[in-house]
Amino acid sequence: MSLWSTRPDGTNGQLVYGNFTVRPQCVFEARPIPDSHKLVFTATAHHSITGGSLALFDRTQGTELDEPLERITPEVCFPETECWPTHYYAGAWPLSEEHFLVSWADRPLPAHAYMDISDERNPGNASGIYLYDAFGNLHLLHRDPEISSETPIPIKPRPRPFAVADNVDWDAPKSGALLLQDVYAGMGDLEGETIEQLRVVGVLPKVQPFMNQPMLGVSAEDTGKVVLGLVPVEADGSAYFEAPSGMPLFFQAIDQDGLALRTMRSLTYLQPEQTLSCVGCHESRETAPALDASPLALRRPPSKITPEAEGSWPLRFDTLVQPVLDNACVDCHHPGHADRNAAAFDLTPDKAYQSLIAYGDNDLHDLAFEKDYSEVGDCVARQSKLLALLTIEGGHEGVVLEEAELARLIVWMDTYAHIQGAFSQEQEQELIALRESVHWIAER
Ligand code: HEC
Ligand code: HEC
Repeated sequence: MSLWSTRPDGTNGQLVYGNFTVRPQCVFEARPIPDSHKLVFTATAHHSITGGSLALFDRTQGTELDEPLERITPEVCFPETECWPTHYYAGAWPLSEEHFLVSWADRPLPAHAYMDISDERNPGNASGIYLYDAFGNLHLLHRDPEISSETPIPIKPRPRPFAVADNVDWDAPKSGALLLQDVYAGMGDLEGETIEQLRVVGVLPKVQPFMNQPMLGVSAEDTGKVVLGLVPVEADGSAYFEAPSGMPLFFQAIDQDGLALRTMRSLTYLQPEQTLSCVGCHESRETAPALDASPLALRRPPSKITPEAEGSWPLRFDTLVQPVLDNACVDCHHPGHADRNAAAFDLTPDKAYQSLIAYGDNDLHDLAFEKDYSEVGDCVARQSKLLALLTIEGGHEGVVLEEAELARLIVWMDTYAHIQGAFSQEQEQELIALRESVHWIAER
């Protein structure tokens, strides 16, 4: 769990620290330090109560790893990913860069399984309130023998925080626009590949209360997805398009062959009528946009999103991929077919998903399985053995798929080879209703 910022009206969500960093595992209880540009936070475990080591964070030194951090309680390791500490801090209230009100427990940080307070490993009176300083002194201020004392807040007059105006018209239609200045910025040398389109994918909230149920694809923690569709990228790498507000989105850069070349493995979102711009795929937050001629895409109205094949919105293997298999593969790939090898690779509806995912030593499974940082070229379809087999010269066993059939397999693979993109039938119905009601899609 990383630290992000957003304005109070929900616009401009951005990373502050730690999208990929695993030490610390979680960044909690961040607070600005008075008269300083630094923050203090608790470096915690994912599988525990909130407690761990305290760190100062200096945003001018970056957004990942150790560089921007200063460990001010270095005797306490970062929980879970470094070790399990034998005592822990939490809830720091900074008075300055050198003095903090904190809660401190002289007990080991309890892991997941021992969090019930009836368990002696998680006593209900573990922590008290202390003044901690950057020289390592810990002064007891208050400790209750019966119950933990935490989250100290000094009671004293303080300046009223400045108000940030609300810029959102919440009654406006639920859409906005996105401007991408140059998709090639941040991509490095593409060796002749061109980016012709962006795929816009919506991320759906989990609506089922059960962990890992239903399984959407190959990773237990898969986020829900709906493939909204494609928008054009101009010759100069720019794109300008309408998009829904209130729906987390990510993008894929699609090359001249319709294959994803890079996926944004993070998300962004619009609020109603907001236009949000970005530089490339992907700029560092430390750089400013280039100030040359205005992007080609800005010289025309925003594009509408062109939805892809049936079965991509809502996303479903049985409606997106199975029709291709029924039409082009099942004649040979069904139990009982004369060729034993063909018969053993069962592509009938009940078995097709498992067969395809497992083909080539779990090739698709491994390509679609959870990943962190996104590298150029690290997309599923272009690396898959399945696509290579189906696109060999003359076709696999003489089967040459039509472009539209291939496109179905490709969008399925590139959006992480899901069985289904939604968590429930109700959520699927909402997506169907959404598609019927919005003005930001171009009908095919
Ligand atoms: C297909 C390439 C690509 C495009 C196009 C792209 N991004 Fe990203 N984006 C990335 C990558 C790569 C990251 C870093 C995380 C990762 O590895 O996926 C990222 C991260 C982010 C983050 C989280 C980190 C941060 O710095 O706040 C936000 C927010 C974001 N992008 C917004 C946008 C916006 C707004 C646009 C333009 C409409 C955009 N992105 C276009 C690839 C892309
Ligand atoms: C005309 C019959 C025929 C059709 C149609 C056909 N295949 Fe095949 N396929 C075969 C045969 C025969 C083999 C086994 C080849 C071998 O053993 O070398 C095979 C093997 C495969 C394999 C490798 C299986 C493994 O376990 O190694 C895959 C993957 C595959 N086919 C996918 C498909 C897909 C997807 C389609 C439809 C787009 C399709 N096939 C259409 C006959 C066919």
